[in-house]
Amino acid sequence: MAEIKVNKFVYGRLQSPNLDQAEEFLTSFGMMRAERTATKLFMRGTDPEQFLHATELGEAKPLAFGYFARSEDDLKALTKVPGATGIENVDEPGGGKRVCLTDPNGFRIEVLHGQAKAKPLPMPEYKVNWAEDKFRRTELMRLPKGPAMVKCAGHGVITTTDLKKTLQWYRDTLGFISSDDIYVEKKENVIASFNRINNGPEYVDHHVFFALQSAKSGLNHISYESRDIDSIFIGHNVMKAKGYRHTWGIGRHILGSQVFDYWYDPWNRVHEHWADSDVLNEAAGSKLLTPEEAFNNQWGPDIPQEFLGHTVPFQ
Ligand SMILES: [Fe+2]
Repeated sequence: MAEIKVNKFVYGRLQSPNLDQAEEFLTSFGMMRAERTATKLFMRGTDPEQFLHATELGEAKPLAFGYFARSEDDLKALTKVPGATGIENVDEPGGGKRVCLTDPNGFRIEVLHGQAKAKPLPMPEYKVNWAEDKFRRTELMRLPKGPAMVKCAGHGVITTTDLKKTLQWYRDTLGFISSDDIYVEKKENVIASFNRINNGPEYVDHHVFFALQSAKSGLNHISYESRDIDSIFIGHNVMKAKGYRHTWGIGRHILGSQVFDYWYDPWNRVHEHWADSDVLNEAAGSKLLTPEEAFNNQWGPDIPQEFLGHTVPFQ
């Protein structure tokens, strides 16, 4: 029985040695500044969360993932998890309260409740009209240029030296359920796992958390939902023109079926744009698959070796 069931992946928190460079990268990636102090930078998307990316000034390293709890009682329940903090007031955009946990890899997990909603930002109006009958598409399609439009945080991905313990912890503590587990040779030998939020009968994204067995524990990537597929392609050219380093994409995954595009920030942390996910509910259950069934694309370039083994150690 899980301690609680979080209901949203809200942000990734990274430490970076230069806030100007961080803001420039994230702006080109399609985020907007929510707040900046001498030592912290908060970036947002168009959805009503106050921020979906936090940067703290310092030596480059991953710091935390942030999730929303459903109630303050849930925060209270989390204070009983070994190593948890008490309930703290949050002195960051939108305020609220939080409990900080440490996962089995030494990575910080922040669970918040009561953050004030931000005003959603308007997306430029345009219509992508892919009518099956082309003669029904009578309006001209004109897409705005600029960075990919980022709406919200999508999922966080880590590598771990102990996948079994890690999955158990996330499922027991945050209430995640498996969408797809990937095994090699024997079915008990799970090497990677996609996990979603448990919202009962409500449909949720195929995954908010993915973990892979690896020689080192660390951050593999943080993913952000973009407005649509066109926006990802338009944003790709903005990132390319700015000279940012690309790793994989544009393609469409099999598991989750998202269209994806992966970019390194100036300190080797991968940020993903995605759009158009499969959604599942609790009743959809979970599957056990081989890497051949799981990791190929539906279309797009093959996964590069450098990205398969990519990790930025937690400590
Ligand atoms: Fe991803």
